[in-house]
Order: sequence, then C-alpha cells, then structure tokens
Amino acid sequence: MHYRTLGKTELNVSLLSLGTGGPSMFGQNKGLEQNNQTALVRRCLDMGINLIDTHERYKDSEKILGRALKGVPRDSYNLVTKWAYAPGVDDFNPDPEALARSVERSLQRLRTDHVEVLLFHGLMPEHHDLVVDRYVPVLQRLKDEGKVKFGGFSLRYVVDPAHEGALTALGRTPDLWDVIMLKFGILNQYASKKVLPLAMEHNVGILNMAAVRVKLPNPKLLAETVADWKARGLVPSDALPDADPLGWLATGDVDSVISAAYKFAAEHPAIGSVISGTSNIDHMERNVAALERPYLPVESRLKLENLFGHIAEYA
Ligand SMILES: NC(=O)c1ccc[n+]([C@@H]2O[C@H](COP(=O)([O-])OP(=O)(O)OC[C@H]3O[C@@H](n4cnc5c(N)ncnc54)[C@H](OP(=O)(O)O)[C@@H]3O)[C@@H](O)[C@H]2O)c1
Repeated sequence: MHYRTLGKTELNVSLLSLGTGGPSMFGQNKGLEQNNQTALVRRCLDMGINLIDTHERYKDSEKILGRALKGVPRDSYNLVTKWAYAPGVDDFNPDPEALARSVERSLQRLRTDHVEVLLFHGLMPEHHDLVVDRYVPVLQRLKDEGKVKFGGFSLRYVVDPAHEGALTALGRTPDLWDVIMLKFGILNQYASKKVLPLAMEHNVGILNMAAVRVKLPNPKLLAETVADWKARGLVPSDALPDADPLGWLATGDVDSVISAAYKFAAEHPAIGSVISGTSNIDHMERNVAALERPYLPVESRLKLENLFGHIAEYA
C-alpha cells in the first residue's frame, strides 16, 4: 500500500480507502450483514487501508462501522464523517448547534471520542458565506474540544460538476479548510484544471470520491455515455470504438477498465486518497492490487486527458 500526506492535516493516509456510501452503501443495499461488513473492514485494515469514509446519512453505516471496529486500536485508522448542513438545496438548519449534535450522534454510533475529519456535505458556492458565518465557529469549537481534528467539505458533483463550491471556498477562505472531497476520474477530469492545482497551492488535502462509479463498472452505461459525447461533439466521432470504448486501457499490468480507473484517480499528486465504495472483498483486493502501481502507461493517460479532459459535466 502506498501512503500520502493529506495536505495540511499531515495525516499519513493510505492511497486507497474504504467508503461506506455510494451505490453499495457498505453492503446495506446488497443484503450484507454485520459479519460480512466486519470481515470487509478487517480485510481492508490488513491490507494497509487506514482511512474510512462515512456519513450520518449513509443509512446505518456509522453504526455498522462502529461495531466492525470494536477492539481495533484507535490510532490505526482515520475516520471521515459528514454533516448535511443543507439536506435539500436550500433547506438549512438555522441552529448552528445542529452541527454539534450531529457530531455527538456520529461519535456515539462510531463508538469513538473523535473523528479525524468532519466534512460539510455538498458545499454549494451560494452557501459558502452562510456556512462560514453560521457553522464554522461551531466546527472550531469541536476542534478545540478534540472531537474533530480537521474540517472541510465535500462537493455536489451532480449539480456542481465544475467544482464552483471549492473554487469559491479556496478563493475566499482558503485557510479555513483542511480537506476537500471531490470526484476526479477518467470521465470527470475537470478538477485538474483549477481545483487540484489550487488545493496544492493551499496545501488542502483531497479525498477522491466516486471516481469509478457508476459508468465505468457498467459496460452498457459507459458505451452510452461515450456515444452521447460523440453525438454532441464533445469527443471526436472516430476517436473510440462504439463497443467497449475504453477496452484498450486493459494492457500490460492493467487488467481491466476498473483497475485503470482507480489508477487514473490516484495518479494526480494532489490526491491524498481514492475512496473505493465496494463492499465486495474480492473487488477491494483487486483495487488494492491496482494501486500497487498507481499510474497508467503515459500514452494511456495522455490519450484519456486529450479525449475527456475538457468535459465538465456529471458522468
Ligand atoms: N458527496 C459525498 O459526500 C459523497 C458522494 C459520493 C461518494 N462519497 C464517498 O465516496 C465513496 C466512494 O464512492 P463510490 O461508492 O461511488 O465508489 P467507487 O469506488 O467510485 O465505485 C463503486 C462502484 O464500483 C464498483 N466496483 C468497485 N470496485 C470494483 C471491482 N474491482 N470490480 C467490479 N466493480 C467494482 C462497485 O461495485 P461492487 O460493490 O460490486 O464492488 C460500486 O458499484 C462512497 O462510498 C462514499 O463514502 C461521498
């Protein structure tokens, strides 16, 4: 396992980490039970994964995770959780103390007295000033109390694919943020234009979410996406085959499009950790193996950058 320093937090985090949300939702959407989830977590730790991402809103993920980590030395892993400051787009909780109450509940469910990282979930640019005025003082208090070590935000990649939330925060209040969670992958490269360089400039750690789902593991969806981009002139029509358009990535030590996708997601130096949302131990083992060499052949990476690097839309 490779490790990277997560920006100014100076946490030494595994390049691949475990996510307990996404389509699998820690296996809760696939009928997994506590013993399966405990086995997954323990296997991840055995393989050197030391960062686990969760959320107050990932169904029972925090509770399941708390049980799975029972007895594991607390200093052997890092926890990231989130608070949905606006569950709907304009649906704010007007009480700043709602943040503190949410963190208390998360700590209870996770059976711990602190989390390494607390993220405001889905920061929208128009909410930046309000979040800073209303909630950041409470976050600071939680830091002073030792309940939260570092703070940041995630982005809403479906409605904000150009990362305006991060550009606003890094433009106005770069010193407030320790960590940003965003989506950077083969089909979502736009972060490399502005946000990733800015994050490096301000030494803000980047956690890479959902870099693979939903289209890359699904050949039909992937072919449809590429066909749509060709039809709209975003990708030259003769640049890729219609069937299995990214099959050419599986070459040399790259055994599949999915392995290629995790490698691509990890290669950029701004990335601290790529979060894998699989709940399948076999898949996680393959993903860990893919990141033993966290880079693609140069010609593959350059071709992907030329093909998709300019596209700033949800995929
Ligand atoms: N705004 C936010 O705060 C936010 C939003 C999205 C995600 N996140 C976090 O980021 C984490 C990662 O995102 P994600 O869950 O979308 O993860 P992801 O790793 O990008 O994609 C997971 C999907 O890829 C499949 N997959 C993974 N490895 C595979 C393999 N080796 N072979 C075949 N299929 C494979 C999984 O299916 P299988 O389960 O079958 O392996 C699953 O459908 C989430 O769990 C969550 O913690 C945060």
